Amino acid sequence: MPDDTFLPRAAQNTERRAPAWAKKSPPKSKAAVRACAKTTWRKALAPRDPHEHARKIAENAIDAWYQSYGGSSIDIPIGTIAALALLRQPEEIGNGLADWILSRQPHELPQLFKEIYLGYWIKRPDLINRALRLHDWAWNPDPDPQQLRAVQAVTHRALNQGLLDLTGHDDPGQRAEADVLSPLLTGLRHKSDKKWRGEYHTPACVTDLMANMLVDKDFAQPGLAIREPAVGSGTMFRSVAQRLRDLGLNPHDYHWYGNDIDSLSAGCAAVNTIIWDLGPNAFIGCADSLATEDSGYAKTLSEAKDAFEQRDRYVDTATAIVTSRRAFRLLDELTSSKETAAV
Ligand SMILES: C[S@@+](CC[C@H](N)C(=O)[O-])C[C@H]1O[C@@H](n2cnc3c(N)ncnc32)[C@H](O)[C@@H]1O
Repeated sequence: MPDDTFLPRAAQNTERRAPAWAKKSPPKSKAAVRACAKTTWRKALAPRDPHEHARKIAENAIDAWYQSYGGSSIDIPIGTIAALALLRQPEEIGNGLADWILSRQPHELPQLFKEIYLGYWIKRPDLINRALRLHDWAWNPDPDPQQLRAVQAVTHRALNQGLLDLTGHDDPGQRAEADVLSPLLTGLRHKSDKKWRGEYHTPACVTDLMANMLVDKDFAQPGLAIREPAVGSGTMFRSVAQRLRDLGLNPHDYHWYGNDIDSLSAGCAAVNTIIWDLGPNAFIGCADSLATEDSGYAKTLSEAKDAFEQRDRYVDTATAIVTSRRAFRLLDELTSSKETAAV
């Protein structure tokens, strides 16, 4: 099974800082905001409460998708936001990354998203495989130009609403202040589809309250298994992870298992598992929890093992190809220098 060296760095400092939004100064007047430097205007306009901020980003992304005639494939806007939320843009580097992405053309975006998902596939192939519905579309060799324009509109709206101010932090505790995929998934889902699935995510204030009431240092012994048989986008996990961090504990020391019957929900939970850095013992399954005794846990672990083995095989093959290319290049250089010497 995986070790944690491939995962985003865990919080070194177990003492959690006050949330960034709590430290923010009050909103400025419109004139003052206009005068703000390019690097701060997104932040100045964002709601101070991270859950409100996440909701606003989701609402804007949904508007942008439908206004641009994106169509009914809701996996595309969700996959777009999920990819962007996997990016790191620490405060000290300013908005350079967001500005660079904003200058991309629509046809360049699928390649960017593929590279983001591939970067994490190297670290957690099981979770990126689980999120297949979120990135499968980006591999389409013949994408619909209208859909790509809608992807660009979603990207612009999310970045201009300060998505990276919410999810781009180096500190996983700050990245886990809100769940941006939850309002996006439930907002994009058709009303009757949502009703049939019973897909109504628990509000963050409720999950936070539950975690604060149920989790204390006596209960949260390292090694404890935290399981969610109807995980949705992982809202409950987020609150428990934050509670553990508040108690000076590290989510990496716990076992996490979330399962959902719906592949889009499981995909969102898988991406959130990376964003919130739940650690090397966090797994997400996609199965009917009621149809198996273990909510598909054994199957999920076996799929994860296969994913890591497949990743290792690909990496070995790629390393062998690079090594032999390098050897051929050296041989070429050697023979051409000998020929030059002979002349
Ligand atoms: C009400 S939502 C709750 C999500 C999350 N636990 C929360 O509190 O926000 C219910 C979730 O359960 C999933 N679900 C429904 N029936 C299920 C089943 N038999 N097995 C696994 N997941 C199921 C749905 O797809 C949906 O994502």
